[in-house]
Amino acid sequence: MPSGESFFIATPIFYVNDVPHIGHAYTEVAADVLARWHRQGGDDTWLLTGTDEHGQKILRTAVANGVEPKQWADRLVESAWKPLLETIDIANDDFIRTTDERHESAVRIFLQKLYDDGFIYSGEYEGYYCVGCEEYKQLDDLELTEVGDYAGQLVCRIHSRPVEILKEKNYFFRMSQFEEQLLELYAARPDFVQPESVRNEIVQFVRQGLSDLSISRSSFDWGIKIPWDETHVVYVWFEALLNYITAIGYGVDDEQFARRWPAVQLVGKDIARFHAVIWPAMLMAAGLPVPHRVFGHGWLLVGGEKMSKSKLTGIAPNQITDTFGSDAFRYYFLRAITFGQDGSFSWEDLSARYQAELANGFGNLASRVVAMVNRYEGGTLPEPGAPDEADLAIQAVVAKAAADADAAIERLAIHEAIAAIWTIVDELNGYITEQEPWVLAKDDATRPRLRTVLYTASEGLRALAVLLSPVMPKATAKLWTALGAEAGLGALPSNDIRDAGTWGQLPPGSQFGALDALFPRIDEAAESGAA
Ligand code: MSP
Repeated sequence: MPSGESFFIATPIFYVNDVPHIGHAYTEVAADVLARWHRQGGDDTWLLTGTDEHGQKILRTAVANGVEPKQWADRLVESAWKPLLETIDIANDDFIRTTDERHESAVRIFLQKLYDDGFIYSGEYEGYYCVGCEEYKQLDDLELTEVGDYAGQLVCRIHSRPVEILKEKNYFFRMSQFEEQLLELYAARPDFVQPESVRNEIVQFVRQGLSDLSISRSSFDWGIKIPWDETHVVYVWFEALLNYITAIGYGVDDEQFARRWPAVQLVGKDIARFHAVIWPAMLMAAGLPVPHRVFGHGWLLVGGEKMSKSKLTGIAPNQITDTFGSDAFRYYFLRAITFGQDGSFSWEDLSARYQAELANGFGNLASRVVAMVNRYEGGTLPEPGAPDEADLAIQAVVAKAAADADAAIERLAIHEAIAAIWTIVDELNGYITEQEPWVLAKDDATRPRLRTVLYTASEGLRALAVLLSPVMPKATAKLWTALGAEAGLGALPSNDIRDAGTWGQLPPGSQFGALDALFPRIDEAAESGAA
């Protein structure tokens, strides 16, 4: 077991009514990069993801497809959601399904506790309900459409679909009791909800006053039965939020629970209210700690609108990875979009960055340096001489980039971390152009200088292989091998991300291997086919 601090990170669990698009993949990749970073820093890391399978939305989809809801969920999980994780190279530690017995039984334990402690009562509710959101809506959340199929109807602002009027005898959670406590939480821990735009929206929402929350449904039965009244199932959101604790042994395995909880939670900003208002209120009622933080990232937009399958703007992740590979997918979305803001996706931008930053920037740098060590030194990393100013400048850039990147990751500013690491790519490319190792190689008198230059450039690559590994695990593994870093010559360079800035880790004498292009040229036919 790693000795470091616990780092538990969770993605939202995904609805299985449809197949994934790149918006879903975006949340996954961000969480995976943070998890890999912490894992590589020796923290006791756990990445949880999974699927949200109950509720009306899934039931209706299953009925429309003529199968039982569980059968539908099984099909989608196996054919679409688990394969997504491979497509984009996610190293999750667990995958929870809300139809897992471990989830259902722990949800019952949680509910019974809240009921016994007086936080749940029965009442009647009537309101507008959006099945797309699986949520009762206030009038503010709706708009009256004037044109199109739904002209004259009230539609949900998020889904642009008409809402339904529901009237039910329900069980209610006394959420209104937690208004003050939530406001105190936001004030005492400004980091609890981030970024600032989402935090402000949440604080304003709670300040307007909280109502109690309807947490059961009796008009359909695709859900977890309420333990003391089996004619009701638990409201899908109330149950889905509990996945973050049922997956780590809540109510069953106290040791595992204590080791992991609380979590860092990444969510799209559309579901920040559920995670930053309802979820902490539920935890407070149960006497449990709230999450470390809830970060609401922005949306991927296509044509200025949130990408979604229902609006037919969904792009499947493998449309991108089949051509560009999973490393480029991961890099592109985290580099091009400020984490926490919306970002527009375009094939042109993706191709341009692939070519300029990955193929010509990082890939070419790696190929050139490895090829020169092979060509001029027979593949053996030379012993460097005393460093001059230019060499020392590279050492300083590496140390600063590693420290800045780690600090940025701590703030969940993933784009800043990558930008900090990229200063190494840019500086090293400049260094090689200036030092002209191919000229130094021509003359015996400059051979000692050549060795120092090659060593310096190789050490820079060593740092890049470590620092970029959470973002681009495949390319950096190839580079690491080509640098002979696994061959075991004396002290091995450290793979610990928090040691990445320490200079001089590659032992002289390391045997380099060959390195194929890390980011091969995309042939134009494939590229335009993808577009
Ligand atoms: N099942 C709920 C979450 C329950 S968590 C207890 C849900 N599922 S979802 O499949 O609709 O969305 C999952 C995640 O994907 C959310 O974080 C959502 O914001 C994200 N995205 C869906 N479309 C997106 C974009 N176009 N852009 C970025 N992320 C988006 O909500």
